[in-house]
Amino acid sequence: MTARELLAGELTKARDRTLRLVDFDDAEVRRQYDPLMSPLVWDLAHIGQQEELWLLRGGDPDRPGLLSPQVDKLYDAFVHSRASRVDLPLLPPTDARNYCATVRGKALDALEALPDGHPDAFTFGMVISHENQHGETMLQALSLRSGAPLLDRGTALPAGRDGIAGTSVLVPAGEFVLGVDAATEPYSLDNERPAHVVDVSAFRIGRVPVTNGEWQQFIGDGGYHHDRWWSRAGWAHRSQANLTAPLFWNGDGTRTRFGYVEEIPATEPVQHVTYFEAEAYAAWAGARLPTEIEWEKACAWDPQTRSRRRYPWGATEPTSSLANLGGDALRPAPVGAYPAGASAYGAEQMLGDVWEWTTSTLRPWPGFTPMVYDMYSAPFFDGVASGDYRVLRGGAWAVSPNILRPSFRNWDHPIRRQIFSGVRLAWDVVDGPRARRADHGDEPLARRADPHV
Ligand SMILES: [Fe+2]
Repeated sequence: MTARELLAGELTKARDRTLRLVDFDDAEVRRQYDPLMSPLVWDLAHIGQQEELWLLRGGDPDRPGLLSPQVDKLYDAFVHSRASRVDLPLLPPTDARNYCATVRGKALDALEALPDGHPDAFTFGMVISHENQHGETMLQALSLRSGAPLLDRGTALPAGRDGIAGTSVLVPAGEFVLGVDAATEPYSLDNERPAHVVDVSAFRIGRVPVTNGEWQQFIGDGGYHHDRWWSRAGWAHRSQANLTAPLFWNGDGTRTRFGYVEEIPATEPVQHVTYFEAEAYAAWAGARLPTEIEWEKACAWDPQTRSRRRYPWGATEPTSSLANLGGDALRPAPVGAYPAGASAYGAEQMLGDVWEWTTSTLRPWPGFTPMVYDMYSAPFFDGVASGDYRVLRGGAWAVSPNILRPSFRNWDHPIRRQIFSGVRLAWDVVDGPRARRADHGDEPLARRADPHV
């Protein structure tokens, strides 16, 4: 299959998913489910508008396009806040669908005419990534929707394994290659590049993400009511927002998921927690959150070959027996569901299931060069006016497998939890004997140690 055919296939897959997520009546797709999210019809037309901008207008917003300049501007995410978009004179759903279809026809023509190896192939990849990222955003919106369920309950997932929650693996000290280059990952985004060597102290990391069952122990132990586990900013937010459990938990052992009320599955990774909650949980558990650099090493580095793996498990493209991705499950898989997806260090479910909060703020890797869409990363870097973001790693069940890599970086405000966010713990490894003894990687975690925050 040629690169052009691959890109055309990915464009079609992304569009099929988008159209499934707006396959509702007009009133539904115009609804705003929550001020945190856009109405679905905005996402739909914005997907088309960005595709037109990058593939047909050379990224120049002043170059005339299919929409009038006034309408075109409605879909600029930097101009209109999510909360305000429902009040804009947006394209009606049918017009939005037709607009997207027209743009797509022209984009496929442009792809057809693209010479082999042309640098614009990257721009097609970027547009595919953008549409897929909005698929996840639309799932976030749908999860905030009130009323009778609109979606099915989700597809079946593999069973988990007993005895795996709360275990950890050792990542010995040493250098590894952080980030990727265009030569190996041509569709990687600017903030994932360039590849460079970093030295990392030894640490332990959770073999799997923290589960709902473990989180229930934190709640039962008064975790939300003792400020000792919380950072100052975290406690202020907890108090102001009156957080007492993850979002969508009902307080009677049930949760509401896409309109369905169901028992909270104890072995499923916890999701819909803020960075501050993750930080407090980690302190209560006698642990800490990983840095994003530690996370990437645990996910991608193979100490035997001293090289990166393309995926935690190796070079094979993600499949449903390696990771929970793509969005059809509508929930994370129980811990231990993907032994074949383990990284070289034995960490499982690094890709898919839940985004994992890290302590890192978003920073450029040394040698960072902005890509053609130069507003993608740079406005969010630490120290830039709009800062206050924490990096999340690993993707979630809602993320398309074709855009996710171990180097992929996501970021959000530490108070956000409508995202599919969860927790993986980490620990310092201070001395040799512990590191050697723990090499088998299944040591149970200590509970209720002193807080680190
Ligand atoms: Fe966007």
